[in-house]
Amino acid sequence: MLILGIETSCDETSVAVVKNGREILSNIILSQNKLHRPFGGVVPEIACRAHLESIIGIIHNAVTEAKVKLADINAIAVVNSPGLIGALLIGVTAAKTLSMVFDIPLIAIHHLHAHIYANNLEHDAVSYPAISLVVSGGHTTLFLSEKETKHVVLGETIDDAAGEAFDKVSKILGLEYPGGPVIDKLAKKGNNKAIPFPRVYLEKNSLDFSFSGLKTAVLYYVKGQDLNRPKSTAQSNTDIADISASFQEAVIDVLVHKTVLASKRYNVRSILLGGGVAANSRLREKLQETSQEIRVPVYYPSIKLCTDNAAMVAGLAYWKYLEGDISGLHIEAIP
Ligand code: KG4
Ligand code: ZN
Repeated sequence: MLILGIETSCDETSVAVVKNGREILSNIILSQNKLHRPFGGVVPEIACRAHLESIIGIIHNAVTEAKVKLADINAIAVVNSPGLIGALLIGVTAAKTLSMVFDIPLIAIHHLHAHIYANNLEHDAVSYPAISLVVSGGHTTLFLSEKETKHVVLGETIDDAAGEAFDKVSKILGLEYPGGPVIDKLAKKGNNKAIPFPRVYLEKNSLDFSFSGLKTAVLYYVKGQDLNRPKSTAQSNTDIADISASFQEAVIDVLVHKTVLASKRYNVRSILLGGGVAANSRLREKLQETSQEIRVPVYYPSIKLCTDNAAMVAGLAYWKYLEGDISGLHIEAIP
């Protein structure tokens, strides 16, 4: 069973061919980071144009690398939600076209569910029910996962996503985009207790998140009360490393606390981590330690499968196909 997956929801153009939901025959990922870096964040119009320019070539490369022909593909899977509307439209239109021309069934995939599925591509032992934490540039969401294809939202961010906070703090510190990998690296040289940045837990027992206050706290710490001051007060490398480590620890404390709270509440058998921020070394380490204490195994994908990729899309589609959940050409891109 061969599925071709397409992912264009944000700033990676990716196409993959996956066999039987597990075996990755190809997973081509074209990152647009360089195009967006001068702006310190993703510029939707630039993202759409870049997807449009590259999608056909990447489909070709994915099929060639997998050593298959388009006519051999059993289903086309595409992320149709959530994401940037123009970016999603490029992938959805390409997928519908292939589906129509080659008469191959089309399967719509939810981007966040695909991030969770990235774990199943590499780990046999995932058992359900599970608590899944998806932390990316656009989302911070806790799910109760009943099986590969069924996820119920338990909580989500009420303002900034965790990855967005990493990207914005990176910008405040004068570092590059995307901020997560840079802050992760710098934090290793800093003291994570140097600055007591706030941990926002919201109401007692809430499974929602909020990171905009933390971002503002970093902004005031760096710039003081005068936001018009042109230069950051964080002059030395030690300062920047300490701010990075202390900010990162504040984000991770909250993420881990709420994941553990949800895991105990629903008495789950696994914890699944997904999304770009799941690549964070300190988050992986701390969640691993804490999950051992509560005796629930934690799974996270390898770094390449944490950030946006189409293998996770094609993999999840296999289970939807088995359930007969075929979409048809009427599907829409939903931002
Ligand atoms: O899942 P993803 O590739 O795209 C979205 O769906 O948003 O996630 C991108 C996000 C960016 O905000 C980036 O800064 C963050 O993931 N990220 C990290 C790390 N690597 C990527 N955040 C923290 N630590 C990292 N090592
Ligand atoms: Zn993503």
